[in-house]
Amino acid sequence: MKLSLRLQQIDSMVSREYDHIWDCCCDHGFLGLNLLKRQAAQTVHFVDIVPDLLKQIEAKLNSEFARKLQLNAWHVHCMDAADLPVELYSKDVLKDKHLVIIAGVGGELLIELIQSLIKRFAAYQVEFLLCPVHHNYKVRQFLIEQKLGLINESLICENNRYYEVLHVAAGAPQSVSNVGSIMWDFNNKKHINYLDKTIKHYQRIAKSPAHSNTAAVIEQYQSLYQS
Ligand SMILES: C[S@@+](CC[C@H](N)C(=O)[O-])C[C@H]1O[C@@H](n2cnc3c(N)ncnc32)[C@H](O)[C@@H]1O
Repeated sequence: MKLSLRLQQIDSMVSREYDHIWDCCCDHGFLGLNLLKRQAAQTVHFVDIVPDLLKQIEAKLNSEFARKLQLNAWHVHCMDAADLPVELYSKDVLKDKHLVIIAGVGGELLIELIQSLIKRFAAYQVEFLLCPVHHNYKVRQFLIEQKLGLINESLICENNRYYEVLHVAAGAPQSVSNVGSIMWDFNNKKHINYLDKTIKHYQRIAKSPAHSNTAAVIEQYQSLYQS
């Protein structure tokens, strides 16, 4: 199983050990399986709303091959990721470190999920690793409103599509920027291309009367050219 470039990038940003990693909206579970193999956490949780996907993951994890590799610290959860049963698996509220990964879903759903999970994890030590499909500005605005700080961020291009990856947590010292900060490398042509494309996208939607506040967004992205 070869991870896509996007999933490789997300995987590379899991650089410390956690007690629990929650691979939410896991689909076939490729990312979680990789994290489990490299023992990135005491327990890896696979979460998706589609029962057949979880059955397939469960079969893989119960296979002879997985047993030989002693891949036994996992759980599968067929449920809405908004409802993660953190209290059932984490007894030491102060000590246990959780990483919640949400990748490959639209920004609006991702915001809804985090809104619910921030409440569920209120008493726990939790970090979020996020890779929305579209609506990055909106997601970033939401993270700022929630007072989540930046641990790391990156930009990855795969098959001509661009993805922003955000690693955030309450109490992280650096601020999240609306338009990205440490992810940009303006010596990289792909990054310039992504910035151009993003500005053009907002210039297009600015023409619609429903998006009257887009000028400020465009200005913020344009100011990155000067940085
Ligand atoms: C495109 S896949 C993303 C897979 C993987 N995370 C990635 O980044 O490649 C989206 C998955 O989200 C799942 N999903 C959508 N809404 C969900 C929800 N509210 N709770 C849990 N899973 C959800 C879908 O069933 C689907 O498997």
